[in-house]
Amino acid sequence: YPINKPVEQDWSFAGPFGTYDKAQLQRGLKVYVNVCSACHSLKRVAFRNLEDLGYSEEQIKAFAANYEVEDGPNQDGDMFTRPAIASDYFPSPYENANQAAASNNGAVPPDLSLIAKARGVERGFPQFIFDIFTQYAEGGPDYIYSLLTGYTDDVPDHIEVQDGLYYNPYFANGAALAMAPPLYGDDVEFDDGTPATIEQEARDVAAFLMWAAEPHLVERKEMGFRVMIFLVLFSALLYIAKKQVWSRVE
Ligand code: HEM
Repeated sequence: YPINKPVEQDWSFAGPFGTYDKAQLQRGLKVYVNVCSACHSLKRVAFRNLEDLGYSEEQIKAFAANYEVEDGPNQDGDMFTRPAIASDYFPSPYENANQAAASNNGAVPPDLSLIAKARGVERGFPQFIFDIFTQYAEGGPDYIYSLLTGYTDDVPDHIEVQDGLYYNPYFANGAALAMAPPLYGDDVEFDDGTPATIEQEARDVAAFLMWAAEPHLVERKEMGFRVMIFLVLFSALLYIAKKQVWSRVE
């Protein structure tokens, strides 16, 4: 199938000096919680990690308490459920993979913790050379944005979409996937008053999933930049030292 290239978006975290936009991550969290979490788990993100998004400890405790998590065994050897605390991880909406598959026409919705990195599209020559310097990392969020906004009823003649699948020319794994379009616009109401268009929701949840997959992106970029500066200065120093040491040799 001809698979469409993801549509490139402007991300606040792009480039060597990029940083996450906390207001955007908060909006993205809301989209994940209200829409995606009905089917997708986020197993590697703990509630306490939401501190990165600017929430206080109290807000996080209150937020976590909305979730039930499984714990145990207790002294009788039984598993039990209890309200989540800050150190718990986002629970899965399903008991297990069988139940997940049974609820989704046989397809298991993937965990979204690392999806933004897992779909970090390879761009090939010559871009990848420049990608090193611009610290390109936006392939995943571009893909998620494109997938969420890319559903269309305009199915090309040569493609046959099976029952229970939905045509999407951006889907990396074929022409149709088992996820019905999850966003239509106005699926959530943003606390900061941002209009919840489908594009806005898709962009914000994609940014949120980028943070989920790479929470230390900003620190890594800062460190990378310092290392580059250090290497340049150190090379100069080595060159001067070499000149000095060999100065008496013709
Ligand atoms: C697959 C994101 C909501 C069910 C996926 C994939 C992503 C994704 C990135 C992987 C596509 C790939 O493999 O390249 C999201 C986001 C959502 C959302 C960001 C919220 C805005 C939902 C909902 C459901 C669902 C509400 C269930 C009603 C599925 C299923 C798949 C899937 C079954 C597997 C599709 C297949 O491989 O054929 N989703 N999803 N998703 N999603 Fe969602």
